[in-house]
Amino acid sequence: MIEDVFAPHEEIELDLLLEAIWRHYQYDFRGYSRSSLHRRMERACHRFACDGLSQLQHRLLREPAVFTELMGFLTIQVSEMFRDPAYFRALREKVVPHLRTWPSLKVWIAGCANGEEFYSLAILFREEGLEDRTIFYCTDISPAALAKAEAGIFDLERIPQFTENHRQSGGRSSLSDYYTAAYGGAVFDKSLRARAVFAEHSLATDQVFAEAQLVSSRNVLIYFDRGLQDRALGLFGESLVRGGFLGLGSRETLRFSRYSEAFADFDIDERIYRRNTIDLKALADG
Ligand SMILES: C[S@@+](CC[C@H](N)C(=O)[O-])C[C@H]1O[C@@H](n2cnc3c(N)ncnc32)[C@H](O)[C@@H]1O
Repeated sequence: MIEDVFAPHEEIELDLLLEAIWRHYQYDFRGYSRSSLHRRMERACHRFACDGLSQLQHRLLREPAVFTELMGFLTIQVSEMFRDPAYFRALREKVVPHLRTWPSLKVWIAGCANGEEFYSLAILFREEGLEDRTIFYCTDISPAALAKAEAGIFDLERIPQFTENHRQSGGRSSLSDYYTAAYGGAVFDKSLRARAVFAEHSLATDQVFAEAQLVSSRNVLIYFDRGLQDRALGLFGESLVRGGFLGLGSRETLRFSRYSEAFADFDIDERIYRRNTIDLKALADG
């Protein structure tokens, strides 16, 4: 991707803003892709009626409520249930037969946003008879997103798209079996969450979360620069058991990572990889 070019003073102001956020709030956005940060901070300046990043920095250091709202500009929660149905079809048809061979399963959904990816996997695992042996770890940097994921309520207008995606993913039942319409939204059955743990976790600063047979982290790495992508991929590699699976988003790849050798291509079209036995430490040092 070609990065936009910004004036040196804009780069300095952005560096200082990110440093201020890190030092004051311990959220680390310093390794995020620059052009998208510039665009989003420009929008935030408009929202907070600031005439530049220095003024925005001044305010967020003094007003925690500004930072809380700024998190909504720094993190993007765009998602869908069964987003890219072919990915979920590949999980169902090609990955599930391997998952069946483990007596118990842990699935880490890193960057779960408002929960769409988690509910998709919970439904898929139920349909495939794997739910009872599985624990889902749903993590995200955004506390607001995690709260929504835990509530499991989605706008009714989004349901036709989710239903179509579910069908295209090879769904074995009707999506309407899993929610009821209430409070002006579709409320997903709380039994889907019975085996889920929701936790704040940053791929930029935290360590490995759990040993997993499947890590699904889609459309998160696209917001990171190369160094941070490597950090996150190193965590996924450490977390995965030998033969465990990693699923990325349709515009994400392992190809340029220092850890690429630690994974074999499994379904390259759907960005699904499989952890091999190569030692990550050797690649980290290399
Ligand atoms: C576009 S959403 C992806 C949602 C879902 N995985 C999907 O593909 O539909 C990106 C998510 O990554 C989260 N995120 C951003 N930086 C993160 C970090 N450092 N650690 C963990 N999650 C992060 C955001 O809060 C957001 O919820």
